[in-house]
Amino acid sequence: MTSSSIASVRARRIWDSRGRPTVEAEVTLGDGTSGRGIAPAGASRGSNEAIDRRDGGPRLGGYDVQEALGSVRDVIAPALEGWDAVDQQGVDERLIALDGTPTKAKLGGNAIVAVSLATLHAAAAHRNLPLWRHLAQDNPVTLPLPEIQIFGGGAHAGRRIDIQDLMVMVPGARSFAQALEITAEVYLAAGRLMAERGALQGVADEGGWWPAFASNEEALEMLVRAIEGAGFTPGEEVAISLDIAASEFGKGGRYTLGLDRRALDSDGLCELLLGWCDRFPILSIEDPLAEDDAEGLARFTRAVGSRIQVIGDDFLVTDGARVDRAAREDTVNAVLVKVNQAGTVSEAAAALEAGKAAGFGTIVSARSGETEDVAIVHMAVGWNARQLKVGSFSRSERMAKWNEGLRIEEALGDNMFAGLTGFPASTGHRAG
Ligand code: PGA
Ligand code: ZN
Repeated sequence: MTSSSIASVRARRIWDSRGRPTVEAEVTLGDGTSGRGIAPAGASRGSNEAIDRRDGGPRLGGYDVQEALGSVRDVIAPALEGWDAVDQQGVDERLIALDGTPTKAKLGGNAIVAVSLATLHAAAAHRNLPLWRHLAQDNPVTLPLPEIQIFGGGAHAGRRIDIQDLMVMVPGARSFAQALEITAEVYLAAGRLMAERGALQGVADEGGWWPAFASNEEALEMLVRAIEGAGFTPGEEVAISLDIAASEFGKGGRYTLGLDRRALDSDGLCELLLGWCDRFPILSIEDPLAEDDAEGLARFTRAVGSRIQVIGDDFLVTDGARVDRAAREDTVNAVLVKVNQAGTVSEAAAALEAGKAAGFGTIVSARSGETEDVAIVHMAVGWNARQLKVGSFSRSERMAKWNEGLRIEEALGDNMFAGLTGFPASTGHRAG
């Protein structure tokens, strides 16, 4: 046993931002250093993601994770003892082999990702490095451009509106800190405007204001008013970013916008969104069409891909092979990276590298079910992803991550802000 080999792996049940159980793993090494990793949880999941193991039944809404904890205790821990934690790839391959299913359903994506992340943290601790520096090795790093939600929607707000995330980006900011400050003004202005119209009804799952709107377009109009209300010029200083999460309301080329009481085919939704892209200062749009509508995505990307970032989330599920294929078929021009969608740190890193190789935009993302864990911020910096999506600007599971970005920016010094340099090569925004 060397000083960086794994001496023990433990798991415990902790609770996420929705008050649901989740898995925390703790890996301790031969030299006594240790690391913890926590599984986040999605609510609008792609059908090809790693599958979490949940107990089912009446207790805790079926969300308990005793079986996943059992996977760690009975299968993973004995198999990893003695393994070198610095060899992340080796540990992840072992986890994948132990599970043996393409979806990680046997041991549970939640069990596997928690152990993979805990191993990563333990290796960084062993090397006595902050996680971002451990991940960067000697490669260049930047502070990512944040994508921050102002209004929540879709599956994160009881489907009150169909659009899932109405967000802003501040590409012209001089620093990560300034991007946050400008976003804070927009978030506060949005709250004031909602209060003035008697529509302030709390926040959705990721901390964005509750979407008490009569139509999807009214939400977009309100976002523009909030940017103006904060004293900024929409499209110049502050731009709009949307996550349509279309797989949540569409399948087989049929889409149903519940709020607008409209049924649309793929072309119809495409046209509606293209109209929004013309009328509103939209810089980025995620999952505009459903995960099973590659043709629709290609049509949409052909229409806007030279100026707008088109992100695949449910469509790519943090899978390098899917990213390669998307690059060949021009279905999207950016990849969202969620470690628990892939199930291991190494697979997520591979999906991100595939995105970079394709000239895609690369965005490290949180889930709607989160915790105080700030590892994704370190990944965005250390992997030089250049964009970061964490949810809104309230609720401490979100703010912990933005605040960690501030600390990293302070450690790195000025002039490290990515701005638009990580946007898809096709959009021509990249210069600089
Ligand atoms: P989630 O969705 O609820 O599955 O985390 C977030 C997203 O669609 O980006
Ligand atoms: Zn999404």
